[in-house]
Amino acid sequence: MTLSALAPSFKRPGKIYFFAGILLFCLGIVGLSAARKEFLEANIPRDATHESIDFTADLGTYLPGARVYNGSINIQDLSFEIVEQNGSPGQKNPPVSLGTHLETEGDLIVYASLSNIAKAASLRLYANPPIIQDEFRVEPAGIDISIQPNTLVVTIWNDANQEKHYSYKLDLLEHTELELIFTDQKVELYLNKKQIASIPSVNIFSSGKIWFGASSEGGDYTLSRLAARPINGGRIQRILSSEITINPADTDTIQGLARKNRSGFTIGAAMALGPMVADSEYRQIALNGNFGSITTENSLKWQFTEPMRGQYAFQETDALLALAEKHGMILHGHTLVFGEANPLWVTSLPYATEMEKNTIETVMVDHIRSIMGRYRGKIPTWDVVNEPLADYDHFKSEAVLRDSIWYRAMGEAYIKKAFQAARLADPEAKLFINEYGLEADGERWDAFLSLITRLKREGVPIDGVGFESHVYEASDKIDSETLASHMMQLADIGLMSRISEIDVYDDDGPEVQANQFRDILMACINTPSCISWTTWGISDRYNMYKEDGSVKYGRDLLWDDGMQPTLALKTLLSTLNRSLDNRSQ
Ligand code: XIL
Repeated sequence: MTLSALAPSFKRPGKIYFFAGILLFCLGIVGLSAARKEFLEANIPRDATHESIDFTADLGTYLPGARVYNGSINIQDLSFEIVEQNGSPGQKNPPVSLGTHLETEGDLIVYASLSNIAKAASLRLYANPPIIQDEFRVEPAGIDISIQPNTLVVTIWNDANQEKHYSYKLDLLEHTELELIFTDQKVELYLNKKQIASIPSVNIFSSGKIWFGASSEGGDYTLSRLAARPINGGRIQRILSSEITINPADTDTIQGLARKNRSGFTIGAAMALGPMVADSEYRQIALNGNFGSITTENSLKWQFTEPMRGQYAFQETDALLALAEKHGMILHGHTLVFGEANPLWVTSLPYATEMEKNTIETVMVDHIRSIMGRYRGKIPTWDVVNEPLADYDHFKSEAVLRDSIWYRAMGEAYIKKAFQAARLADPEAKLFINEYGLEADGERWDAFLSLITRLKREGVPIDGVGFESHVYEASDKIDSETLASHMMQLADIGLMSRISEIDVYDDDGPEVQANQFRDILMACINTPSCISWTTWGISDRYNMYKEDGSVKYGRDLLWDDGMQPTLALKTLLSTLNRSLDNRSQ
């Protein structure tokens, strides 16, 4: 295991002590202890230790689904699951604590005490946080210990995302003390001091990092201790995500130049907490002035925030908000009411009778109140209703709205009710309706304009419209003049606009891609009612989608998968610079 964050000499303790010894000898008895202490302090990273570090409280604070109870942690079963786009059940999404992690050098033991297991309890150690999309998640290397009635199952994922299971018979236990001993050669598992398994290591933690997760099924369990201790001369360190640092930008950023062109204008990007806390290159770009706002990429979608009725998980959004505040950025809330990314308990609500329809309305309003209430005064702009129009393939001029659970229960009125609830929940927040395919002329735009005009006339408290501006293929190409004219038509009825989710495919080459990004940015910045321009992601390293069951990567963003600026970004910077020069002439 390596510990990249630590000083190089840390890896060769033998040598350190040898030279330290000679040094101490020369210094003589009086200066001895002081000099040795000084030497060690200069070479040993702050906080790295041979002692054990307890992570129990961290899970209580940062793990979605965890509750602190009587000094222990109660791991609830909130049925975290990722739904497919059509709403059918998908992959399990056991929660991860992203607030802290462990950096390790050498061998170590992880201890855990589990008790009161209602049915199945699991503890998971990850080499990196999983990458969570709203239709799937990519499992990193790691190990999961799952205690089920009469069986203990160990699952190991290697770097190539291959999954291996090992099962062991088990007597039902009141209290389980787990010890996991990691050495280079193997993982040994002890249960109540008895060895259960010795599995040849597949080098799970070559990252030198361990992130913790815990989940339960069929009821909760108590985690009264989770700790790690280095052995055989190893060392460990607890890293707090909120203390992560970045280097200040040394050149003009897109946000900086955009503000010089138009004061108050915001450049944003959709971001996720996993790469933010685990990938230093991602967070460098995310937080060092390139952007003035963070859109909560997936963290505020219903399946992640309210996986069970009335049970909320705010850990990821809370952390993104804290990072945004620390770096002088704002958060854009995405999204409250949407036909997709809803958990099964929502999409399977019955909607036949009046009473059932009222229940759905209550569920929607409660959700808006709880989430906006928590972030009242802290998140200034929201996508209250997302993609209300039917998808292209279902769109008909006589049935333009998406056939969502909300539409089924309330008809078009769900939009009005959602915005009214949002206005009440945070009267200062600016409320948006967010939609794709509004950039071009045609029946989709006509239908949207008549809908929004009608809603405004009825006094629905809508402040603006998000143009997603996804350009996935040739037919999505955006004509910036048409787009600008749509934004101006909205301004005429008192609405702001945002470019809310732009990404552009690169099949026609980098110049075509760059020009598309540039034209839309300039259309927005030159239209006074367009308040911000936001890309859907930062870097192609995390630009994933699923096709035919496998994960594919796109090249649609401003930084490539090596975190280098693409031609598109360079073009945006030079265009903004040139437009400044033109003004000053
Ligand atoms: C995206 C998610 O970010 C991905 O993780 C998912 O796999 C596909 O959808 N319009 C929206 C966003 O409003 O919420 C969508 O998000 C992209 C399209």
